Amino acid sequence: MEMNIEAIVKQVLAEMQGTPGATVAPKQAGVIPKTSKAAMLTALENYEIKEFPIPELGDDDILVKVEGCGVCGTDAHEFKRDPFGLIPLVLGHEGTGEIVKMGKNVKKDSAGKPLTIGDKVVTCMIFKDNPDITMFDLNKQNVGGADVYGLLPDDDIHLNGWFADYLVIRGGSTVFNVSDLDLESRILIEPSAVLIHAVERAKSTGILRFNSRVAVQGCGPIGLICIAILKTMGVQNIVAIDGEQKRLDFAKELGASATVNFKDFQGIEALTDGVKAAFGGYLADFAFQCTGSPIAHANIYKFIRNGGGLCELGFFINGGDATINPHFDICSKEITTVGSWVYTLRDYATTFDFLKGAKAIGLPIHKLITHKFPLSQINEAHITNLKMEGLKIAIINE
Ligand SMILES: NC(=O)c1ccc[n+]([C@@H]2O[C@H](COP(=O)([O-])OP(=O)(O)OC[C@H]3O[C@@H](n4cnc5c(N)ncnc54)[C@H](O)[C@@H]3O)[C@@H](O)[C@H]2O)c1
Ligand SMILES: [Zn+2]
Repeated sequence: MEMNIEAIVKQVLAEMQGTPGATVAPKQAGVIPKTSKAAMLTALENYEIKEFPIPELGDDDILVKVEGCGVCGTDAHEFKRDPFGLIPLVLGHEGTGEIVKMGKNVKKDSAGKPLTIGDKVVTCMIFKDNPDITMFDLNKQNVGGADVYGLLPDDDIHLNGWFADYLVIRGGSTVFNVSDLDLESRILIEPSAVLIHAVERAKSTGILRFNSRVAVQGCGPIGLICIAILKTMGVQNIVAIDGEQKRLDFAKELGASATVNFKDFQGIEALTDGVKAAFGGYLADFAFQCTGSPIAHANIYKFIRNGGGLCELGFFINGGDATINPHFDICSKEITTVGSWVYTLRDYATTFDFLKGAKAIGLPIHKLITHKFPLSQINEAHITNLKMEGLKIAIINE
């Protein structure tokens, strides 16, 4: 009985701390500094750590203390070339952190889950108003504006990218409460959403089933996450194809049943036989193309059985033309192909489930993050990323 009362008092106290007092707004935890560090890309291949004031929060805004952020291919592109002339800007869109302060109107995340101080969150660059459109929209309805963090410059506060100590999430942005995921899983949300989308596109063909033989070509982060998603879905027969043995070995840890190193084979016929042998004498029912190589695109049709399916997702950017034979590769084989680009908002929710499911069946997806750097070493982090020595490079704040 005594124990019960103690527990009740503790619970009431905890609730009081989490409940906004009528006169105290915005809600706040701990001591928040007046300024925050942010890594601003000020010239090609040059981030500078700058100090910006943390602004007063509006009633709909959220202040997040950043815990970490993945380095993405688009960050590498911007760091090396600045193709759209965006410098100076604060990058980092694969970030996550803890809510330390929020305006009085903030009650729920974009999925309707309650939000409170201490919750771990991520942002998403897809507008919540229209979950069905992807980034590729000619009217640019869903790119730019207040909703985008770590991709575009802003003209005022600069705490709008995750390569920083604090991030200001403005009212109306897409934000998700992901407190039930660990830090590594949260950093992997954005790249994983790309594959959740690709698998959804693949399922739309009606060919990809849990008992399908599935080939995944390319074992960079994209192909590897694809394998982990297939495994988490219950697909048992997955053949991974790459030229890097270390990546192929990791593909096995993430769920591939067999691997094919294309460097062991001379010519496409021998390679096709290699893939067939890896499936125990069968071609693939379905294949995912996860490289940016036009030759790899041309090759993959040979690995697919008559009536099979293909999801091409390896060309986020223009990688040039591929030569295929429409008669042999598509028409006479009756191949169903789908393309996949970025993701929708709905894919985010599925991604959270995938990350939990992967952990539950013991897939070591956290090992995808091969290098961790503090914010002060953001230039080194990007240089390591460009050298392509690891898989996912992440900034982990101290
Ligand atoms: N659809 C999307 O929205 C989307 C999003 C992000 C990335 N991508 C694309 O996905 C691709 C993969 O991304 P990543 O980060 O994993 O890149 P990555 O460069 O780390 O991995 C590519 C892998 O493909 C392998 N490869 C190259 N040529 C091959 C061949 N002929 N046969 C088999 N394997 C071969 C490489 O050895 C490498 O391991 C990129 O081209 C990227 O543009 C697409
Ligand atoms: Zn990304």
